[in-house]
Amino acid sequence: MSNADTTTQDQHAQAAQTTTGETVEEVRDEWADYDFGGEPMVSVEGLNVHYGSDHALKGVAMDIPDESVTALIGPSGCGKSTYLRCLNRMNDRIKAASVDGSVEVGGEEIYQDGTNLVELRKRVGMVFQAPNPFPKSIRDNIAYGPRKHGDIDTGLVSRLFGRDDREREDELVEQCLRDAALWDEVADRLDDNALGLSGGQQQRLCIARALAVDPDVLLMDEPASALDPIATAKIEDLIEELAEEYTVVVVTHNMQQAARISDQTAVFLTGGELVEYGDTDQIFENPESQRVEDYITGKFG
Ligand SMILES: Nc1ncnc2c1ncn2[C@@H]1O[C@H](COP(=O)(O)OP(=O)(O)OP(=O)(O)O)[C@@H](O)[C@H]1O
Ligand SMILES: [Mg+2]
Repeated sequence: MSNADTTTQDQHAQAAQTTTGETVEEVRDEWADYDFGGEPMVSVEGLNVHYGSDHALKGVAMDIPDESVTALIGPSGCGKSTYLRCLNRMNDRIKAASVDGSVEVGGEEIYQDGTNLVELRKRVGMVFQAPNPFPKSIRDNIAYGPRKHGDIDTGLVSRLFGRDDREREDELVEQCLRDAALWDEVADRLDDNALGLSGGQQQRLCIARALAVDPDVLLMDEPASALDPIATAKIEDLIEELAEEYTVVVVTHNMQQAARISDQTAVFLTGGELVEYGDTDQIFENPESQRVEDYITGKFG
């Protein structure tokens, strides 16, 4: 056996160790029972995702509590975005992806025949890395969802038949922009094109748009990674505020950010495994798994 082989074996043996000397399986059992108190908003069991023959997520189990921020961290390619997309079945749109396992949102299985995907994505909204407002006015961006779902109708025909939601729409637009900490910056230009906003403002607009359909869960995939430090700080503050009302699940490459804003942290590592999940303080200060400790202290990843 060559030296290189021995080193790789040693590394594997070491990777299977935990900082407290327990086996990986023992650690896994412990965090799988990790109790944050209360009912989970999202409950995931035995979740596997394949892209063709590529096994991208391996047997993930994870309960996510309501009214809190859960951070997903881990090296590039470990499956964070794949996992996030499972929570509102966005992977259904990727031809090569096959998903099996169970995901319950608010106690209801989303991977079953008859799940209404439009309703699901209303309940479980998503914000992406690059802000993607529609090339429409700020107002239209917010009102788009509620109009599409028929919650708001300001059309001429409806008005002729006596339904006029224009006032309600004004209120909703204001409320969502306030909740996304954007109102003060755009109140006097609601009819301007959203593409004229700065990147940070566009991202907060996308968050406001997601809030407009009254979701339970907000999924965010590196929502601040394209922004400067000031815009990032605003998004971080906003995420913490949103957690008073929503279940926020956020992927981030920035470990300080995860430590600052999240209540729970889940660490995915190469190979599509959820290696450890628990209170953010515990994960960053005293992780059970040696692999997680190495990742957090920058020894790999
Ligand atoms: N649409 C796709 N088709 C085929 N393979 C994919 C697809 N999306 C992701 N994968 C593969 O699945 C694995 C996990 O990818 P994913 O994008 O979930 O990782 P990630 O943790 O979000 O990475 P990053 O931090 O770079 O965003 C990778 O090996 C990736 O190549
Ligand atoms: Mg990703």
